[in-house]
Amino acid sequence: MKTLDGKVAIVTGAGRGLGRSEALELARLGARVVVSDLPVASGAGTEPSGADQVAEEIRALGGEALVHYGDVSDWDSAEVLIARTVEELGGLDILVNNAGISRPAMSFNMTEQDWDDVVRVHLKGTFAPTRFAAAYWREQAKAGSRLGGATVVNTSSPNGLNGGTPGHVNYSVAKTGINTITTALARELAPYGVRCNAVAPLAYTSMTESLWGTEILPSTRRPELEPANVAAVVGWLASPDSDPVTAKVLAVVGSKCVLWNSWAPVEEIHTDGAWTFDQIAESAPALFKQVDAGLPLEL
Ligand SMILES: NC(=O)c1ccc[n+]([C@@H]2O[C@H](COP(=O)([O-])OP(=O)(O)OC[C@H]3O[C@@H](n4cnc5c(N)ncnc54)[C@H](O)[C@@H]3O)[C@@H](O)[C@H]2O)c1
Repeated sequence: MKTLDGKVAIVTGAGRGLGRSEALELARLGARVVVSDLPVASGAGTEPSGADQVAEEIRALGGEALVHYGDVSDWDSAEVLIARTVEELGGLDILVNNAGISRPAMSFNMTEQDWDDVVRVHLKGTFAPTRFAAAYWREQAKAGSRLGGATVVNTSSPNGLNGGTPGHVNYSVAKTGINTITTALARELAPYGVRCNAVAPLAYTSMTESLWGTEILPSTRRPELEPANVAAVVGWLASPDSDPVTAKVLAVVGSKCVLWNSWAPVEEIHTDGAWTFDQIAESAPALFKQVDAGLPLEL
């Protein structure tokens, strides 16, 4: 008996890269998998999406796969993704929101399109499928036909944890937002037995091609920086074996897996009644007793 036997999983952006590995891992663990990606003709990036090939790989390993083409950031398309999964595979247990794009540019060069596309694909593209999955799980819980056990795994990034990377403001903001989607939905869906976590990966994929062989993705460490490394953690978070873990963001960087926490208060100062300019100017140094008042040393 495998840990995901009888479960149905969706992986978005599963035509290549991390999503492909995650779909294969969930299938290896026993799930029937919906391999979802953009239609081939509009595949984002430099190569066509290969959802059909990934589904074939799953079948060749003895698994069951369904291909679904659609844009995760399109509300109607997200609804169809969930409805079709439930209709054709008889339910939904695991949603891995992985689809993503990168449009790097310094802020003074960034186009409106670069900003809108990155924020849309990551934020709306994570929220929209989850919104319809959540409606399905709530309905099931109310009908008494499910006693929890559903899981969502979102995809953040080290750029969404480190306070933002120059040249990636759009992407850093979007990924930071995914951290908050993860914790907010974990709280909201807990009464329905749904757990929601995220990974912040680093891996050799077409998205990171410009970094291959650099100190960020050293070729000597390539085996541990392959997508399968991240997929193993996603498979665990998606499975009952990780219960009760929820509302967590795990950075998976090679052989290191780091639990991150959200913004936390550092220092507190007070005034009598409302602040005035002079009072804050006089008291502010006390806020920076423990931290450098300027840029953090490491970004
Ligand atoms: N590779 C890394 O080191 C790294 C680091 C941090 C975060 N991530 C995140 O991991 C996820 C996967 O990235 P990857 O490296 O495998 O990239 P990738 O470019 O190889 O794969 C991304 C997949 O998402 C699909 N996609 C893009 N927009 C979509 C949309 N609107 N609807 C449906 N599918 C869409 C693409 O067609 C592609 O198949 C992304 O969210 C990315 O931001 C990757």
